[in-house]
Amino acid sequence: MALLDVRELAVRVDGKNIIENVSLRINKGEITVLMGPNASGKSTLLYSIMGLQKYRVVKGKILFNGKDITNEPSWKRARMGIGLAFQNPPKILIRLRYLSRKIAELHSFHESLENISKLLSMDQLLDRNIHYGFSGGESKRTELFLLMLQKPKLALLDEPDSGVDIESIRSIADCINRLAENGAGVLLVTHQGYILRYIDNLGRGYVMYNGRIIYEDDAYIVLKKIMIQGYSGLASSHKKA
Ligand SMILES: Nc1ncnc2c1ncn2[C@@H]1O[C@H](COP(=O)(O)OP(=O)(O)OP(=O)(O)O)[C@@H](O)[C@H]1O
Ligand SMILES: [Mg+2]
Repeated sequence: MALLDVRELAVRVDGKNIIENVSLRINKGEITVLMGPNASGKSTLLYSIMGLQKYRVVKGKILFNGKDITNEPSWKRARMGIGLAFQNPPKILIRLRYLSRKIAELHSFHESLENISKLLSMDQLLDRNIHYGFSGGESKRTELFLLMLQKPKLALLDEPDSGVDIESIRSIADCINRLAENGAGVLLVTHQGYILRYIDNLGRGYVMYNGRIIYEDDAYIVLKKIMIQGYSGLASSHKKA
């Protein structure tokens, strides 16, 4: 049984249909990749899996560990072990050190906070309010840091590599590998795909186009196809939906 099973999902946001007939599966311990051009609906899909309020499922369902969570509120999904690292995270007027300790306590995060903080070079950020004045790369590392402390069973990562320098991409990939080694399923949205060379247990790759999944294959093959054909080429040759 897949950890996450999204079946024929259609999602409407503020009265507008954004996602149509999307099916996707994520296994434990594997990194599943989601790619697609800007505005194709990738973030919307992640928000819908997380159950954020505005994202109204009008058709289909979402199964997590075999349980139908389509109508569960996001806080329940978070308690079940689903976590999201935002593409553009909201600012929070709380010191990062305080929130990270609270999250680590709540989730009995036994691995030393120091360890993971060092891996993601968080030291300079711990005594600042979260995302206030953070650089793009600092925000990405912070999102992943906070997510890891939650020990998620399913990690939804919305472009954790965008705008990140090459060295930090390696640490981000190390963290993603760690999540998977600990048994989490990961859904990774990426534009460049450069990060995939450092990912150990790559699973399937999906391509989203105009709110639909138009192609699915091993993640590396998906990346190669996109490089060669581009999204529109792929859309015209593999139209599924
Ligand atoms: N509240 C809303 N009202 C109307 N349209 C919306 C709303 N929220 C999102 N959309 C639209 O849904 C589409 C998909 O947006 P989404 O953020 O999911 O794309 P994306 O694939 O993540 O793009 P990117 O790669 O740029 O991050 C976009 O056209 C966006 O403008
Ligand atoms: Mg997005």
